[in-house]
Order: sequence, then C-alpha cells, then structure tokens
Amino acid sequence: MAQFLDRPRCVAIVHQVKKFNIAVYAGDGIGPEVVEQAVRVLAAAQGDCRLEFTHLPWGAEYYEQHRQAVPDDFLGQLKKFDAIFLGALGWPAKMPDHISLAPLIAMRQQFDQYACVRPARLYAGVKTPLANKSPKDIDMVVIRENSEGEYAGIGGRFKRQTADEVAIENAIHSRRGIERIIRFGFETALTRPRRQLTLVTKSNALKHGMVLWDEIFEEVRTRYPSVRSDKQHVDAAAMNFVRCPERFDVVVASNLFGDILTDLGGAIAGGLGLASSANINPERQFPSMFEPVHGSAPDITGKGIANPIAAILSGALMLEFLGQCAAAQRIRIAVESVLDASLGTPDLGGKLTTQQLGEAVVERLNQ
Ligand code: NAD
Ligand code: IPM
Ligand code: MN
Repeated sequence: MAQFLDRPRCVAIVHQVKKFNIAVYAGDGIGPEVVEQAVRVLAAAQGDCRLEFTHLPWGAEYYEQHRQAVPDDFLGQLKKFDAIFLGALGWPAKMPDHISLAPLIAMRQQFDQYACVRPARLYAGVKTPLANKSPKDIDMVVIRENSEGEYAGIGGRFKRQTADEVAIENAIHSRRGIERIIRFGFETALTRPRRQLTLVTKSNALKHGMVLWDEIFEEVRTRYPSVRSDKQHVDAAAMNFVRCPERFDVVVASNLFGDILTDLGGAIAGGLGLASSANINPERQFPSMFEPVHGSAPDITGKGIANPIAAILSGALMLEFLGQCAAAQRIRIAVESVLDASLGTPDLGGKLTTQQLGEAVVERLNQ
C-alpha cells in the first residue's frame, strides 16, 4: 500500500481529491423525488471531488411533529456546509405557504445569497410553446436580486379581521444591493458570447425604488463598455420573453420581477421541469444554495412522473460554483444527449418515470 502511494502519479491523485459537505434539504412534494435522482447523477459525475451528502428531514412532516418547518437553529446547522442542495418546499394542504417557505427566504437573506442565477435555455429535442422559435432563439440567464427588494418582509397588519383591515408590505431597494447585483449581471455578461444585458425596471410607475435602479444602472454600465445594455419595463419584458426571446442574453431584475420572469423563462424553454437555479453568495462568506425553480407540485406528487432535470441541472450549477467545472459540464452534456434523444417525463411529452429519466442521465454519464 505504502509503495502504491509512493508512486508520484498516485500522490498527485490523492492531492486532487477535494471533499465537499453538501446539506440536502429535499423538502416537500416532488422535492424528495427529484432530489433522489439529482444526488445519483451528482455522485456519478463527481470525478475528482467527493461530495458527502447529509440529508436534513425538514418540511411538512417535520411540521406535523414539531409545529415548525425547521428547527430553531437551522441556519446554524446549515452554515457549516459547503453548499445546500434543496428540492422544493410547500404543502399548502398541511401547512400555510408563508410558514413552509420562510426558511427558503431566510436562507437567501441571512446567507446573503444575493445573486440568484436562473438560466433559461431551450435544449435541442425539447418543444417550446412559442411558435417558430428554436434553441438558437432561447438562451438567456436571469440574474435575480435575491436578498431584499419586494421580499424584505418589512410591514404589518393593522385592524385585523375588521372591515378597515390594512396590510403594509414595504420593498427595500438599497444602493449597495442594487449596485452589486447589476455588477454581477455585467460580470456574467462578460462570460457569454453575446455580451448583452437587459435591466428590468418599472420606473414609469415605481418612482422611488425603480428610479434608483435606473440611476445605478446608468452608473454601472459605463464601467462595462464592451457589454451592450438596455432596459425594459417589466410588463414589456414579459411580452418580449414571449414575442422575441432572442433579444435577451443576461437579464437583471429585482426579487419579485425576477421570480415572475423566471417561471415564464422556464415555460418558454420547455417547462418548469427543466429550469435550474443557483442562490449565490459570491463572496463565499456563507454557503450558497442550489434548487430547481419549480415548487413542490402537489398535483403530481407520488406519481413518479416529476421531471428531475431541473434538479439535476441545479446540481451542475452547484458543481460549477464549487470549482468542479468539468464535472458540471459532463452533467450538461449527458442531459443534452438525453433530451436530444427525446427521452423525457410526461411534461416533456415523454413516457419515462422520474427514476428512468435519472437513470438515462447516469447511463450517458457512464458512457
Ligand atoms: P409548482 O412549481 O410546484 O407547480 C406548477 C406546475 O408545474 C404544476 O402543474 C406542476 O405539476 C408542474 N411542475 C412543477 N415542477 C415540475 C416537475 N419537476 N416536473 C413536472 N411538472 C412540474 O408551483 P405551485 O403549484 O404554484 O406551488 C406548489 C407549492 O410549491 C406551493 O406550496 C408553493 O408555494 C411552493 N413553491 C415552492 C418553491 C420552492 O421550494 N423553491 C417554488 C415555487 C413554489
Ligand atoms: C422561487 C419561488 C419562491 C420565490 C417562493 C416559493 C417563496 O417561487 O424560488 O421562485 O418566490 O422566490
Ligand atoms: Mn418562483
């Protein structure tokens, strides 16, 4: 054994293996179903690194036992991991959405995962609901501000349960928060061949927050002369996602606008079953979180037909963020090959189960 390790080639291999501790928060509904397949794919793709998965039993079942979705110190528990891999949260029949989803928003805000990266790319072999559009027309990434904005949670209820009841929901748009996400958007644009960026705004009506976004955008864009940039109001942007998606490359949007536009982005790229996302703390002071864009899909839970590709591609985003770009690329190539062969779950018009589609990706990886 010692002799084996003494051989220089083996020593090099030992040094290359990096270990990452991944918290798996599978959550509710189809969350555990798609996560199971994504974890299989990640295990098969890991190559020169080792991913150690720790499964956290939080969500609707935990709520039934403890009357809360997660333990009090859940952020403390998550903090020690290198990354968090999440399935989906929410089970409206068992617990109110604002309780089940609170941990998700808390992670994004408390771990300062301010950059939410959501690619929307139409793969060959996948049908878009848009007429006359093909993969060359749909290849964008939405950069969603993920730490403040309309999700700040600042507000309250007044005169509850009376005819005079009032609810106040304040949005927080800070100079620091806007500046860093627009900069992140431009940096992303520099990595893409088209080098184009669209700021989504609504400064014609939201005269405080969105006007500040516009002003900061004008400042930041001057620092990126090689990126072509423009802005669109969110209503027009929604229309243009449908009418002319080829106009978009990198899209930067506030928290709520980004949320809405990424369901639409998912839909035009073949459905939510394919839409991946990363919630990134670029400074790496806290763990980042990776999850599909979709929710817990109670309507198909337990049927074994949920599409695991969104979770699998979120796994690729995680590997990339952990510096394992070759492994991430292997997953993408395997997914491309599976989709190109028109293999898919029913949402893609196919006949495969969740497990069979996961297996198909693993098979391609092993080829
Ligand atoms: P949803 O994304 O769960 O489902 C919308 C539609 O898309 C459904 O018809 C569903 O069957 C379909 N769909 C979603 N993912 C799919 C997949 N992988 N394969 C095939 N079809 C898929 O949205 P919803 O129904 O509005 O919300 C359900 C629950 O999920 C709610 O509690 C909601 O708050 C929550 N939610 C959670 C997250 C999250 O955890 N990140 C995101 C969105 C919604
Ligand atoms: C998403 C989801 C969440 C959001 C919900 C479930 C809180 O829709 O990740 O897109 O609005 O951010
Ligand atoms: Mn959403």
